[in-house]
Amino acid sequence: MDMSLQGKHIVLGITGSIAAYKSAILTRLLVKKGAEVQIVITPAGKEFITPVTLSALSGRPVISDFFASGDGTWHSHVDLGLWADLMVVAPATASTLGKMTHGIADNMLITTYLSMKAPVFVAPAMDLDMVRHVTTQRNLEKLKSDGVRIIDAAEGELASHLEGKGRMEEPEKIVAILEQFFAEKCHLAGKKILITAGPTYERIDPVRFIGNFSSGKMGFALAEECAARGAEVLLITGPTALSLSHPRIRKIDVESAQQMYDAAVNAFPEMDAAILSAAVADYRPEAAAEQKIKRTEGENLTLALTPNPDIAATLGKMKKPGQKIIGFALETNDEEYHAIKKMEQKNLDYIVLNSLQDQGAGFGHDTNKVTILSRNGEKKSFGLKTKKEVAKDIVDVIFGTTSNESG
Ligand code: CTP
Repeated sequence: MDMSLQGKHIVLGITGSIAAYKSAILTRLLVKKGAEVQIVITPAGKEFITPVTLSALSGRPVISDFFASGDGTWHSHVDLGLWADLMVVAPATASTLGKMTHGIADNMLITTYLSMKAPVFVAPAMDLDMVRHVTTQRNLEKLKSDGVRIIDAAEGELASHLEGKGRMEEPEKIVAILEQFFAEKCHLAGKKILITAGPTYERIDPVRFIGNFSSGKMGFALAEECAARGAEVLLITGPTALSLSHPRIRKIDVESAQQMYDAAVNAFPEMDAAILSAAVADYRPEAAAEQKIKRTEGENLTLALTPNPDIAATLGKMKKPGQKIIGFALETNDEEYHAIKKMEQKNLDYIVLNSLQDQGAGFGHDTNKVTILSRNGEKKSFGLKTKKEVAKDIVDVIFGTTSNESG
């Protein structure tokens, strides 16, 4: 059986159009291909097809109201927005397209759209004059510029018995478009990517260490993004409070820079790329005391520090044609100058610069603001975004967005 949509979470929005009967077929096709389908229907949609049919086909209760009528439980559109890998509104009426364009959140489908973190597709269905109308065309253009993907209405006989453009695209075609979308998203399939993340702890004695405030969030977000696009990820991480589980992410937990170095150097020859987001301690105590160091009243304590090996520079020396290395630079002054110097000295292909001068960027935050510099002189600056979104931008720049660009 063809399970090309295996495990994909799809929110299917259904609105009030004659074409809603085709949504039943669409649901069945998506489920047969392995997708989990959560239907959200507008009040008008229910006039055209019953939730009973749709919940039987999808295997899940259909969501329509803000609250479940029986027990008053709240349907969380925010949770749906996070759960989904994709949302498709099929059929999408002129009214729903207008509400989506302007954020008129008077039903569950629109609130779900406004909370959606995943890509959104719409398959318009309406009479030919409505399709042609300048308002509809303007709304479609606006939605497109907002990042919504339009599955164009097809030509044919319409509910009004007129012939022309306005029929919702056939369910089989919609499924093929969604399959193609997921296939392109997996453009890193077969690639092996090493990612370092988090801080390192350098032992002073059995109970103390030298560390830093790195949370590991950026590296974990990168690991998840690469894995979502099909890559096999080896995540070598220092101590963090984070957890993840993805079948394509293998995690090696380390503590010190030396352990991270050993694991990275050992794995790198097999890798297609290394993304080095760890905040590696530059120095460690020359010798970790075997017993807890005791306080001596009135005396200073001097720790002798010795340099740690530089993982990025070592991998830069080992690098073979076809392998890419991406480093990070956290700078406080003359940021670009220092970042470019680091990229060249360590033989990196890209360096992701975040400045400590930017509010909300860098260590510990959920957000980051980066500039990506490439060895061949390109520069791309991004605004303040969540680390998840920053991870997407970084992966887009390094590996391209489709199989054709991934190199
Ligand atoms: N890095 C590394 N191993 C080290 C130190 C740094 O792999 N021992 C990597 C980091 O993961 C990052 C890049 O090198 O990708 C730059 O790190 P940074 O600490 O800013 O650079 P340093 O060379 O340590 O320079 P600085 O003097 O600014 O600390």
